[in-house]
Amino acid sequence: MGLTGLFLIFFLVVHASINGCIWFNDGGKTFLYYAHFMGTNFLVHIAEVGLFAGLILHIVDGLLLWKQNRDARPEKYAYSNANANSKWYSRSMGILGTLILFFLIVHLRNFWGPNRLNQISTGEELNLFQLMQEDFSNVWMVLFYVAACFSLFWHLLHGFKSAFQSLGLNNVKYNKAIEIAGTAFAIIVPLVFALMPISFYFGWVK
Ligand code: HEM
Repeated sequence: MGLTGLFLIFFLVVHASINGCIWFNDGGKTFLYYAHFMGTNFLVHIAEVGLFAGLILHIVDGLLLWKQNRDARPEKYAYSNANANSKWYSRSMGILGTLILFFLIVHLRNFWGPNRLNQISTGEELNLFQLMQEDFSNVWMVLFYVAACFSLFWHLLHGFKSAFQSLGLNNVKYNKAIEIAGTAFAIIVPLVFALMPISFYFGWVK
């Protein structure tokens, strides 16, 4: 879980950085330049296979972990003061992950699917900037994306520092720093993502 999680965290940074180019406000020129590189480079296509494999592994691993926990204690505690022992978002990784998975299916159907299909059938890429402008002119789509970013925030709040713990990289000396970095990451990355559909909707990006 830790390794695939860190790999997905790395992907999020790359994805947010490239998409963040929309804020150059140059009609999508800079964004499309990098999107073109990501969409056509051979090595990136190989990394893409790794990304989807990592995503599936992360989900399967999560389900196995959940089953292991359940089987380890089939009967519930007679008295469980869960709030005193753990945060709710750490107990809700499954439900948050499922929400993110649902988002990803819609998300890939919005952009990645049509773009790849068009590439295969015509050899041309779609104008992803224009596609975002169109999709994010719909307030429901914007709200859906913002809600997904909120789920991502909760998921990362627990996930980031857990990854270090699972990999044995935590250490009394660094735990505080990991905690702070994890919280900052969990806030900043989903916030940057959420601001994208919002910026298109309000016409801040042209
Ligand atoms: C909320 C703002 C977001 C916007 C505007 C956005 C936009 C896009 C666009 C335009 C593509 C198409 C790339 C292509 O076809 O070459 C894409 C691909 C993708 N996005 Fe997002 N995205 C957002 C957030 C996210 C989040 C939060 C995640 C993960 C939790 C995510 C995961 C993915 C994945 C897995 C792909 C496919 C990557 C690939 O090309 O292999 N996106 N996104």
